[in-house]
Amino acid sequence: MTKSALQIARAAYQPKVPAALQGNVKAVEGEYTQSVADQDEIKALFPNTYGMPIITFEKSNEQQKAPSTNVGVILSGGQAPGGHNVIAGIFDGMKAANPQSRLYGFILGPDGLIKHEYMELTGDIINDYRNTGGFDMIGSGRTKLEKEEDFEKGLAILKKLDIHALVIIGGDDSNTNACVLAEYYKSVHAGVQVIGCPKTIDGDLKNEQIETSFGFDTACKVYSEVIGNIQRDCNSARKYWHFIKLMGRSASHIALECALQTHPNACIISEEVEAKNMSLDDIVTEVATIVASRAENGQNFGTVLIPEGLFEYIPEIKRLIAELNDFLVKSKDEFNMIKKSEQRAYIIKKLTKINSELYASLPETVASQLVMERDPHGNVQVSLIETEKLLAEMVGKRLEEWVLAGTCLNKWLVDEKYKGKFSTQVHFFGYEGRCAAPSNYDADYCYSLGYTASCLINAGKTGYMASVRNTTAPATKWIAGGIPITMMMNMEHRNNKSKPVIKKALADLDGAPFKSFAANRDTWAASTDYVYPGPIQYFGPHEVCDKPTITLTLEQS
Ligand code: FBP
Repeated sequence: MTKSALQIARAAYQPKVPAALQGNVKAVEGEYTQSVADQDEIKALFPNTYGMPIITFEKSNEQQKAPSTNVGVILSGGQAPGGHNVIAGIFDGMKAANPQSRLYGFILGPDGLIKHEYMELTGDIINDYRNTGGFDMIGSGRTKLEKEEDFEKGLAILKKLDIHALVIIGGDDSNTNACVLAEYYKSVHAGVQVIGCPKTIDGDLKNEQIETSFGFDTACKVYSEVIGNIQRDCNSARKYWHFIKLMGRSASHIALECALQTHPNACIISEEVEAKNMSLDDIVTEVATIVASRAENGQNFGTVLIPEGLFEYIPEIKRLIAELNDFLVKSKDEFNMIKKSEQRAYIIKKLTKINSELYASLPETVASQLVMERDPHGNVQVSLIETEKLLAEMVGKRLEEWVLAGTCLNKWLVDEKYKGKFSTQVHFFGYEGRCAAPSNYDADYCYSLGYTASCLINAGKTGYMASVRNTTAPATKWIAGGIPITMMMNMEHRNNKSKPVIKKALADLDGAPFKSFAANRDTWAASTDYVYPGPIQYFGPHEVCDKPTITLTLEQS
């Protein structure tokens, strides 16, 4: 493997860990717990793993000799910077407790467990991947571990390899499934512990005990670097409006954090759109108003941040998609007979008046994406819809209407004429950040999470998620422990069934990060107050290299 100069230097980086994990460790049990909601139902579904106490690790003076334990590890879902360090942390923690223990990685996610595809992760392999981005050490996958027959197939290989603990590194769904698996293995006395680790760049796996999911820090820093670069270009040429879509399947945490880091002229927050019942037209008018008001000051340039999940949060679009889904299932055969060029007109005729008008108002590309791209469950794949192009196009149209009308019909500029120029560039940043070399924060956090997972295994725990808290303080003061996964659960309707799931953390409109954004956004819209964060720094002053996200800092302060 040819390595870059940075990779070589970075391999020697020793992640910082909580003081409690340096040396012998003891598990201290806290209060017994309850799920965040629907306690009776969750308790009935998890009779063996419900209500367990929170665990905190503390330094111990007693020399511990753990029996050798083979451990399996799975990377599940989308890549996030720091995954390799979680595995390195597990490895080092296991070996410190007993050098005879072995670590096995299952290949390409949960599929590896089901299909019995694995590799032993030796010291040499681990060393090759320390502090690197990506999940390529063992690969990742999106297969859901949900069925009993898959649990049994997994158990067969775990038994064969004499594995007594499995660590599942994933997002809310994967950790929910880890908990179901822990419960199942306990109920059948399989002798296999299951521990989860909070991963996702989306930042939506967090709560009172889990401060953040790993990867969010690095991904936001990478996106903020490029947004900053674009803003500098934009402020130099002064001729383009940049519409920038940012990854984050559902929640807007990434867009919000990037806005706090870079001060764009506009940033749409999906959760606010939903809460205010905003229409697509409202969003277009709001952005066009910002464009027009900046044009008044001769500033025909700017940046607009758009969260990937926006489309599904616009109530009227949700309603349209629901009718389209229904209609296309019922009239599939008839629809497939219609020529492509006539499909749009056909749909317009068939929908209810309100949805038909909305559908007709959408640009051609989006209208056709809404009927073409279906996932295996028959749903529109909203993440494939190019919202950045859609908004750029619709804002342009709105400005043209204002030119024709000779007036800006909006709240700020009544009776003023729009005389600006509007040229656009569109971008989508997602994959660029998911495998970046982890920032110091993620390198330290991930390694500590992995080491904590190994301590939970040594303490005989199952159905827990590794937790490292107080992470805005210096790493030695971080608090390592375990949170019973059932504690984070509630019942939700998924695919017409009521299911126990970890509650997804959406951007909180009453939370400090959103409030800080809301307090500043009008200033950022009118002025050109861009911040240029620059690239992640791996070596240098602490205040440059170890800074956590603004979201986390505001939430913890
Ligand atoms: P996870 O929730 O699995 O961590 O994945 C996050 C994510 O990066 C989303 O932001 C994005 O919408 C999605 O994965 C993209 O998925 P894919 O890699 O399958 O294209």
